[in-house]
Amino acid sequence: MNSYDIAVIGGDGTGPEVTAENIKVLDAAGQKFGFKLNYTDFDFGGDRYLRTNEVLPDSASDDLRNFPAVILGAIGHPDVAPGVLEKGILLRLRFELEQYINLRPVKLFDERFCPLKDKKPEDVDFVVVRENNEGLYTGSGGFVFKGTPNEVAIQESVNTRRGVERCLRYAFEYTQKRNKDKQLTLCGKTNVLTYAFDLWDRAFHEIGEADYPDIKREYAHVDATTMWFVKNPEWFDVIVTDNMFGDIITDLGAMVQGGMGIAAGGNINPEGTSMFEPIGGSAPKYTGQNVINPLAAICSGALMLEHLGENEAAKAIEDTVISVTREKIKDLGAGRMGYSTTEVGDLVASSL
Ligand code: IPM
Ligand code: MN
Repeated sequence: MNSYDIAVIGGDGTGPEVTAENIKVLDAAGQKFGFKLNYTDFDFGGDRYLRTNEVLPDSASDDLRNFPAVILGAIGHPDVAPGVLEKGILLRLRFELEQYINLRPVKLFDERFCPLKDKKPEDVDFVVVRENNEGLYTGSGGFVFKGTPNEVAIQESVNTRRGVERCLRYAFEYTQKRNKDKQLTLCGKTNVLTYAFDLWDRAFHEIGEADYPDIKREYAHVDATTMWFVKNPEWFDVIVTDNMFGDIITDLGAMVQGGMGIAAGGNINPEGTSMFEPIGGSAPKYTGQNVINPLAAICSGALMLEHLGENEAAKAIEDTVISVTREKIKDLGAGRMGYSTTEVGDLVASSL
């Protein structure tokens, strides 16, 4: 029987609640499909920081490297200044573990939950491959004359040929494996960011032409991409983009698929430790109320199983989430599902 050692960071706010439901469903899938997950908890998050004054122990990445995958609930605490935990835990782990891909599927499970008029599940089914280690997120830049009237703030976008190329290759491979329209769209801003996206654009066409001639290459500026997401989401199959644009368009993507209650993502290092999370935040005001929607976390569990090679189980979880969403759930928002957090987890686990 296959068995996997999984690290669990429940994190802040409602993170631990949705993580518990994710694990409930993963264990049910393990029973059905014959694999076992062994969990090890890590207490990283706002409470630990407030208690110990340490954001993340320096040993964290080395400890996590012993696991093929990490389940992450949410990071973000109302008593901690914005940025401290996000940069100090989430971004630090993404960087140190070289999770250079942020994979974010955008799939509408039920027409009722799409804010776009007349769009159906077959119209909203694409995947964003977001570069996850570079761009504006590296922290490169600085202040000059800070706090004076002459203050200068510079924030640089870092794009290395190696970083861009490994992201593009992953996206081409993914498009091939997904085997839907065999179309990969580069989302950029070649008309203004004439250095960064010149590199992206050249690498995109060089790699595509040489190694993936069967994949159709498209290009869209990021501003136009947001327009097409709303107007013609059916045009997209796989989209590849840099870190900042990927951050922005995937929040829009999440809304198009029904909201943060359902949107999941994977921080992927194809050769190392990957980390799977619901893309919504810690929603602190709902903590402990058993009202938050765990379906995004459960979908992130399915992404993790797919990554581990348990494809049949991953597909079964997704199919079950789709049928539960269609047949039972009243609304994807917190407190409006018609069921509690734990009941939604039970529904998925039992119908599996
Ligand atoms: C996300 C989040 C993070 C990001 C924040 C919390 C640092 O918005 O995962 O999309 O910007 O990547
Ligand atoms: Mn974001």
